[in-house]
Amino acid sequence: MAIKSIILAAGKGTRMKSDKPKVLHEIFDKTLLGYVLDAVNGTGKVDESFVIVGHQAEVVDEYVKSNYENAKTILQTPQLGTGHAVSMACPELEDFDGEVIILCGDTPLITSNTLEAFIKSHKNNFAHITVMTANFDNPKNYGRIIRNIDGSVKAIVEEKDATEKEKQIQEVNAGIYCLNWQKVKKAFSELKSNNAQGEYYLTDIIAWGTKKNLNVQAYTLKDNNEILGINSKIQLAEASKILNNRSLKRLMNDGITIIDPENTWISPETNIDTDTIIYPNTFITGKNEIGKNCKIGPFSHIRGGCKIGNNVRIGNFVEIKKSEIKDNTNVSHLSYIGDSELGSHVNIGAGTITANYNPITKVKSKTVIKDNANTGSNSVLVAPLTVEEGGFVAAGTTVTKDVEEKSLAISRAELRTIKNYVK
Ligand code: UD1
Ligand code: CA
Repeated sequence: MAIKSIILAAGKGTRMKSDKPKVLHEIFDKTLLGYVLDAVNGTGKVDESFVIVGHQAEVVDEYVKSNYENAKTILQTPQLGTGHAVSMACPELEDFDGEVIILCGDTPLITSNTLEAFIKSHKNNFAHITVMTANFDNPKNYGRIIRNIDGSVKAIVEEKDATEKEKQIQEVNAGIYCLNWQKVKKAFSELKSNNAQGEYYLTDIIAWGTKKNLNVQAYTLKDNNEILGINSKIQLAEASKILNNRSLKRLMNDGITIIDPENTWISPETNIDTDTIIYPNTFITGKNEIGKNCKIGPFSHIRGGCKIGNNVRIGNFVEIKKSEIKDNTNVSHLSYIGDSELGSHVNIGAGTITANYNPITKVKSKTVIKDNANTGSNSVLVAPLTVEEGGFVAAGTTVTKDVEEKSLAISRAELRTIKNYVK
């Protein structure tokens, strides 16, 4: 049976010092919540997610509605703790007879692979509750995992409620749970708030479960980075770096040459084929497909929605957005290509601009440049516009209408030279 997920995202995120809800901050143009939802959906096992919202609920609701068909938000107000947050989903799940996984909306580094292994371990153990744990050298601020002498899980104690001895424990609660819903749902009406924070703790379901003789298990994470929670702009930068390193490693393992991984940014949703070389200071964000044997950079900016073929050259100070570029085409220097379709064997001269946006009408239009066409340096192509096969745009030309096959488009004041002027 398909699994449901509950994602906790009602908290305020005060330390972000931002007007934006915490879970809507972005890495490579995708929100933190988006990463979590994609990881959940990426398991292929979860058919519906409930996002618990509170702080700036409308904005998060709008985001979820317009981006995820299989997710909906549930309002938690006031926010009385993580256990209280999950209880908000109880009415929706009243009759649901399957497993529910619970995650936080601010841990973008969690992967589908880990979630799949986590769910599998829950099932193999015939567990009623599985909690994900991690071992930290510095476990401060996390809930600690209390185990019985036989190694079984007994309870979770929050830092603020822990004794000095409990604080020594380095195994922490990662904040990700898998529950057999029918067995555990009752816990949410029985949680108490008699703790240091006066909150209803989700973590108390562990002690609740062991008392009820349920099968409570722990799954220990392999890569601790995966549960890095984002609470500040510093952690946002750390997570971005980790995500980028993961993405660069994946690409290098696939046979892509990255000259300077320290100074190259490529989004996890960019696929590149073998033997393409990425030169330093290149920034590639969003979703893109890039072919074989391309040379990209130094200093190229690819902004997403791009499909680039084989043997393509994208050079320095070139920005490309939402465009398709076919094989053997060059955009080598100082150009902007946006909302465009470039054929193969096209040569874009230095400083060519596709003027795709009219700031008065706010309309974006398309530029089509067909096979074997050339644009001269410093030309402006005012979209909508087509340069037909083999068409030629002269240097310095502003093109405002279609260029016919193999024709020359030239708009240039005649050159005058004034003799002896300098003298
Ligand atoms: C929680 C766990 C802790 C664990 C840590 C892992 C509890 C009591 N503690 O602590 O054991 O080690 O996560 O990161 O669960 N939220 C709501 N509604 C609320 C309160 C919180 O939606 O009423 C959301 C927050 O937005 C956040 C998540 O729940 O996304 C976790 O809440 P937070 O207050 O950050 O819990 P921690 O103190 O980090
Ligand atoms: Ca937290």
